[in-house]
Amino acid sequence: MKDYIKIDEWNIIEEGFDPHLNKISESIFSLGNGRMGQRANFEEAYSGETLPGNYVAGVYYPDKTRVGWWKNGYPEYFAKVLNAANWIGIDIKIGDEVLDLHQCAVSEFRRVLNMQEGYLLRTFTATLKSGKQVKVTAQRFCSIVDDEAGAIRYSFTPLNFSGEVTITNFIDGDIKNQDSNYDEKFWDEVEKEVNQNTAFLTLRTKKTAFEVCTGMHFEIHQDGKALELEFSPNQREKFVAAAVTVAVTENQETVIYKYAANLSSENYEKAELMANCKKVVAGVAAKGFGKMLAEQAEAWAAKWQESDIMIEGDAAAQQAIRFNIYQLNQTYTGEDARLNIGPKGFTGEKYGGTTYWDTEAYCVPFYLATADQQVTKNLLIYRYKHLPKAIENAEKLGFKNGAALYPMVTINGEECHNEWEITFEEIHRNAAIAFAIYNYIRYTGDAAYLNDYGLEVLMGIARFWSQRVNWSDAKQQYVMLGVTGPNEYENNVNNNWYTSTMAMWCLEYALEALDYVKNNAVDKFQHIISKTNFNEAEERAQWQHILENMYLPVDAEKGIFLQQDGYLDKENILVKDLSPADRPLNQKWSWDRILRSPFIKQADVLQGFYFLEDRFDLETLRRNFDYYEPRTVHESSLSPCVHAILAAKLGDEERAYQFYLRTSRLDLDDYNNDTEDGCHITSMAGTWMSVVEGFGGMRVRNGQLTFNPFIPAKWRSFSFKINFREALLKVKVSKEGVQITNDSDIALTVMIYDKPYEVKPQSEILAGHEIVA
Ligand code: BGC
Repeated sequence: MKDYIKIDEWNIIEEGFDPHLNKISESIFSLGNGRMGQRANFEEAYSGETLPGNYVAGVYYPDKTRVGWWKNGYPEYFAKVLNAANWIGIDIKIGDEVLDLHQCAVSEFRRVLNMQEGYLLRTFTATLKSGKQVKVTAQRFCSIVDDEAGAIRYSFTPLNFSGEVTITNFIDGDIKNQDSNYDEKFWDEVEKEVNQNTAFLTLRTKKTAFEVCTGMHFEIHQDGKALELEFSPNQREKFVAAAVTVAVTENQETVIYKYAANLSSENYEKAELMANCKKVVAGVAAKGFGKMLAEQAEAWAAKWQESDIMIEGDAAAQQAIRFNIYQLNQTYTGEDARLNIGPKGFTGEKYGGTTYWDTEAYCVPFYLATADQQVTKNLLIYRYKHLPKAIENAEKLGFKNGAALYPMVTINGEECHNEWEITFEEIHRNAAIAFAIYNYIRYTGDAAYLNDYGLEVLMGIARFWSQRVNWSDAKQQYVMLGVTGPNEYENNVNNNWYTSTMAMWCLEYALEALDYVKNNAVDKFQHIISKTNFNEAEERAQWQHILENMYLPVDAEKGIFLQQDGYLDKENILVKDLSPADRPLNQKWSWDRILRSPFIKQADVLQGFYFLEDRFDLETLRRNFDYYEPRTVHESSLSPCVHAILAAKLGDEERAYQFYLRTSRLDLDDYNNDTEDGCHITSMAGTWMSVVEGFGGMRVRNGQLTFNPFIPAKWRSFSFKINFREALLKVKVSKEGVQITNDSDIALTVMIYDKPYEVKPQSEILAGHEIVA
């Protein structure tokens, strides 16, 4: 754990330069706008440890699979949102010395991520080996208004000399992914151009042939005016630059403005890519840095208006929750149904920027409540479009008749994961995709989604489960063998309670969805039935038979569901008995030892309690929670949030708060020692859930919002914003009660501690004094 980020409610602040922390800070201070993003690498040269990272959403490379022992059914490749051209580069040469923070003395270093207005600011004073001192202020952002563009204002002031400085603005496409399986570079050059103070570089990905044109326009200002300069072009393969030497005088500020854009062939004809890039770059350059920045601040203010959480009385918690919300909004804006949310977003290479069940299980609730419903709908449509591939994926594994197995990891619908125990066995992901459809409809009321998209997906998933179970003569019940539950510290287990329970839930929901579409859109129903060759009577009867005869492991004596058959045979030791030297297990223990141990990586049985909570009473939850949590090591960042919500439901406020702390500052304090690889973007949505569903106790039941809140002891109050069916609500929980402000023209009735309250348009209510106790 680290403790170097200064506490501030709206800013992430690092003071003093410690090269050992640089890669962590590069992740934390990342920027993005949904369409592109980047790590907080320096503009000027840096010869110390760094992980360069620039990413363009949707552009990927299929890196050939590398495994020790090939198994039939493995995917050929792992699709990676690859490292793209570095557009921030500005080399500064003072006389004949390169400005490089690894080669000089650095003082007054300060890095600030301004979350309120959406920019990164870095200031420092560097003393070069020659003794020359220069003060630098660098500010940059990825615009969420012009979402293909970014801008930099880089200013430097000589503090104790006058002389010449050579400035080279460049775009470098000669880059490599650190995680490249065969040490290959993934880009080829298509074309390039350097014209005075603009330059453009088009690259094409090998194999997938995506093209991205990166362009820049730069100006150098002194005394508030652009200098008239002759720039010397400099080009080599996959690299364009323009250099100029300017005279600088002591204490005089020189400012470089650099505007850049990334345009991808996903959105433009390849032949027109560079021409369009020129237009976008010229457009933002004409707008100017100041105007772009003002628009950025305004656009971020609108995002905060919809999604902010305010915490009074705990600045560290306030900073953390805003950081989580900020990163989520930087990663996915929901405007493009081809895009999704990688577990590390645009902050690193790990997980390849690809889609996991994290999206449906963890991110959907956040976007449902903080953005227009189209945003979540786009996430669902992404999977709808991948349905043919999910069917193909299941066929590859031997399933038939339209059974769909969605991939564990994907970017284009094809499976990318290549560990058999996950690729073939961690099939519970299918259920999360079905659950997200249910969740979306429950929240928005848009049941018609089933007619247009949802039903087909649910049928494919139900068909998969109906073939994945088998009849056991011995048990005279259906069983599900050889699976991996969410707890990846157990593989190839039989009858994982979570997977089997969720499979049954999927069958039930698919049956309901069939009824719904049949009764509400009979033409669409007929179309789907014939398109999918659905034998209604037979398949329905088979699903029903499974529902009535499925085996689920339980221990009646303990009154708990069993994570899987045989779980109770494991050694009876608890996490509290482990020595800290053994943690994290996945770094300290052999895989064999982990698999045999009782230790649980993340919520497994309890994940089922989270999704299907209304099916279980509080006492059943309590028994299962009290049994499984003490055996859970929470070595996935997705784990503490589910436990926070369930602990809150059980009224265990202190533990709920402790779990919340573990997720909310996970990256800011580098809890798991892995933030340098990138931030845990998808688990940030879980942090949001801990506040809203945990402390706020928010649920949607029967089309109504319900709240059952409490305030963590350390907080004076907290409030959150909720979009619900066209209404924008602010929910504030304080010692005085629960205050709901309705900023919309729609009246709605909400339940607070089980009592109904009408909240009229543009008005406010104060309810419930139960929390005073
Ligand atoms: C977790 C998975 C998750 C993945 C990506 C793994 O460590 O066990 O549940 O999907 O990380 O976040």
